[in-house]
Order: sequence, then C-alpha cells, then structure tokens
Amino acid sequence: PTLCRTVSISNLLTAKHSMRCTKGVETCKTREDDVIVVAYPKSGTHWVWEMVRLLQAGTTDVPLVEKDDGMIEDVVPETLEALPSPRALNTHAHFELMPQDILKKKSCKLIYVTRDPRDVMVSYFNHHRKLTQYYNYSGQWKDYFPLFLSGKVDYESWFAYTQGWEQGMKDNPDLQVHVTSYEALHENTEEEIKKTAGFLGTSADKAFLREVMKKTDFESMRATKGKNETFEGGAVMYRKGKVGDWKNWFTVAQSEQFDAVFEQEMKGTKAYELYSIKKQDF
Ligand code: A3P
Repeated sequence: PTLCRTVSISNLLTAKHSMRCTKGVETCKTREDDVIVVAYPKSGTHWVWEMVRLLQAGTTDVPLVEKDDGMIEDVVPETLEALPSPRALNTHAHFELMPQDILKKKSCKLIYVTRDPRDVMVSYFNHHRKLTQYYNYSGQWKDYFPLFLSGKVDYESWFAYTQGWEQGMKDNPDLQVHVTSYEALHENTEEEIKKTAGFLGTSADKAFLREVMKKTDFESMRATKGKNETFEGGAVMYRKGKVGDWKNWFTVAQSEQFDAVFEQEMKGTKAYELYSIKKQDF
C-alpha cells in the first residue's frame, strides 16, 4: 500500500511531496562544501537560497538560476551530481529524512530558516490556490485553515517539521547548522547576511554584502526571478514578502484556535519562544 496520497480538496498532500515520499533526499550524497538551505515551505527558502548562492560565488554578477534546480527532492540525483562545487542545495524534508551523511563529523553546512507559522499558513494557502497545475485547489481560507493545522498539506505538519528539526539539532550537536528566521532577516537584513557569510566563511567585504542585500531584496528578486517564473509562480514565490500578513486573514476565532494548537504542540520549543502568541498582536 502506498503511503503517498494524491491531491483532493480535503487533502493537499501531493504524492511527490508527502513526507514519506521525498525520495532521494535520504540517499543524496552530499559534499563537504555543500550548503543546504532547510526550511518548511513558505519560510523564505528562495530568499536565503539566493543569498547563499551569491555569497558562495563571491559576486552578484551571476546567471539567473532557479532555486528548484538545487532542490534535492525536485531533481534527479544525476542533475544534482552534475552541479559544480560548491553547491547551494535546498530541501523541505523533515529532519529524519535528511541525507544521512549530514550527521557525519565532516559534513556540509546547513542553514535552517524558520518563520511565524501564521504567516507560513497564509503564504501556503496562496501557494496552494495559485499553483493550479499542481493542486487544482479552489478551497476558501476557512477551509484551508483546518487542513494546515492537521498537516494535510504538502510536507505535512508544520508542527511536526519544527519539532523534528529542533530535536534533531539538539541530538546532533556536531551538525554544522546556522539558524535564522524570516523575521530576523527582515528586521536586520545586513547583520543576518553578515552572520551567514561568517558561517559560510565567504567574503565579509562590506560593499559586497550590501550588494548581496540589494540583489536579494524582495522587489529586486520579484522583478528578476519572479518575472522569469512561468505560470503564476512569480506571484506566488514572490507574493507579498511581509511579516505579519496573517493579521489580514485570521478571524479572532481562528486566532484563538491557532493559539490553542500552538500552545499544545509547541510549548517548550524554541519556536514557541519566538512566536508565542501575544493577544495584543492581533
Ligand atoms: P509571502 O507569500 O508571505 O509573500 P519560500 O521561498 O520558502 O517558498 O517562501 C516564500 C515566501 O517568501 C513568500 O511569502 C515570498 O513572498 C517570500 N519571499 C520570497 N523572496 C523574498 C525576499 N527576497 N524577501 C522577502 N520575502 C521573500
């Protein structure tokens, strides 16, 4: 029996992206100089991946390449193998499905990006609605809300993903991982880029880092990369780019329901410290 489900209106988990079906990630052979951006979908993967790519290149004068060309579960192993070093890879795989060799002493570097799950939910709703060729989803926000909370979406539960990664990082102190958040990247972009460069051991030249910041800023990525996306992808992958858009979507009842689930699932985690819901937020 297959554990992969196909898309229906009550379940947005595609066979390809089911947690148990992100085949090829566990067995992917990593290289010591690889950098893998790891994030639950809609957490800023495109943004951080682009930063990494420019930092690795040491210049912002690089050809346009799509993030998905380095997405471990989206391309065949031969394509990944053909990429020249150092590779900038990315995946939405849960911790337990990551390439097993990341646990080795001399492994590649990971950048873990987290985002307020309420903003992730809004962003993911738009993703599911607008990427019609993948999902054919026409549900309303009120219908999507319980799907996200119960993990019936691609890559399954945000809560399980986040718990799994936090536990994985705790259990594997040798993991070379830099943790950042969508919110920190917004609030102090220059400093976050500098920290990322420090972690990667790439140029810390101030003018270069400023150039990276400019090139990866929302408007410039939307104008260049967004325009290049075929179908409606541009408007989905570079939709709004803001912190706190959830306030335009959540009703008071949804906010309360979310708080209750968040508290129950996440209490005691780092994500809880970061995003614990304050009533005055709403
Ligand atoms: P919104 O839908 O809230 O606008 P991912 O890359 O993981 O799929 O995440 C997509 C989200 O990141 C979208 O959020 C998108 O607009 C936002 N995003 C993409 N590039 C960005 C950038 N350069 N700066 C800020 N946000 C960006």
